[in-house]
Amino acid sequence: VIISDGSSRVLAALPTGESVEVLLFGATVLSWKDAAGDEKLWLSKDTKLDGSKGVRGGIPLVFPLFGPATPNHEPTSKLPQHGLARTARWEFLGKSTSEGSSSSVKLDFGLSSDSLTESTKALWPYKFGLLYSVSLERESLNTTLVITNDGDESFDCQMLLHTYFRTKDISAVQITGLEDSKYIDKVDGVKTKTESSSPVTFHGETDRVYTPAKGPGHPIVISNSDRPCFRIVRDNLEQVVVWNPWIEKAQGMSDFAPKDGYKNMVCVEAGSVDGWQKLDKGDAFEGAQTIHLL
Ligand code: BG6
Repeated sequence: VIISDGSSRVLAALPTGESVEVLLFGATVLSWKDAAGDEKLWLSKDTKLDGSKGVRGGIPLVFPLFGPATPNHEPTSKLPQHGLARTARWEFLGKSTSEGSSSSVKLDFGLSSDSLTESTKALWPYKFGLLYSVSLERESLNTTLVITNDGDESFDCQMLLHTYFRTKDISAVQITGLEDSKYIDKVDGVKTKTESSSPVTFHGETDRVYTPAKGPGHPIVISNSDRPCFRIVRDNLEQVVVWNPWIEKAQGMSDFAPKDGYKNMVCVEAGSVDGWQKLDKGDAFEGAQTIHLL
């Protein structure tokens, strides 16, 4: 494990060459490479990496709010879009490794409400602990978030693993596993729709919150030109957000570069974002994804 860049990044690699890099702001996975050194995640060239904004790329963590504040949910109404975890500075708690034929490395990160700045605490006053584990194996990456309520007061929360997958050409991308599933279409005036029995393809701005009909254990597969590239298996996360900003939205984002980068990314985001998880004193919620390389 190498800690670099003024101790703001943690890099870990397997003896066979696979690697993962995590920024302490947001505990954001910035890079995941296979043994050949090929990058699996998309990262904007103009992203902020100083905690002034969420990272545009990699795997930002969304907590305790998904999307913009909803005025009818008072406790989260002061939070910025996607909450506070993606910009907060997390602590690196350490690594564990296992060697041999199935070698792996696990990096643990923590964030507690006690370590937030006073101005951030004022946005969401609850006592919580977050433990985030990033586990790299030869052919997969697992990211697991455990949320605990460390205070006396109950709170409502949402969480999401906002993964930006690198793709060759968005117009050749197909996503399977979302067939016949209900989704909220955020592009088309937040309407509820039902997906067809065909794979999802991309022809314009796409921003959908799916609740896959087959449940979290059923994999979501991302393919490019009929070649399967990633298989995502969720644990305890009922929703999958599918997002591509397309031409105009990409133009409008100051941290999105190059501007035609929308062709090389697709966000497939495992989360618990439809309604709220209520955590009472002492309760915990755990959500995870495992991304397999195909
Ligand atoms: C997605 C949302 O998860 O994140 C989109 O569904 C949003 O609506 C996108 O535009 C990016 O959000 P942000 O805050 O990183 O620009």
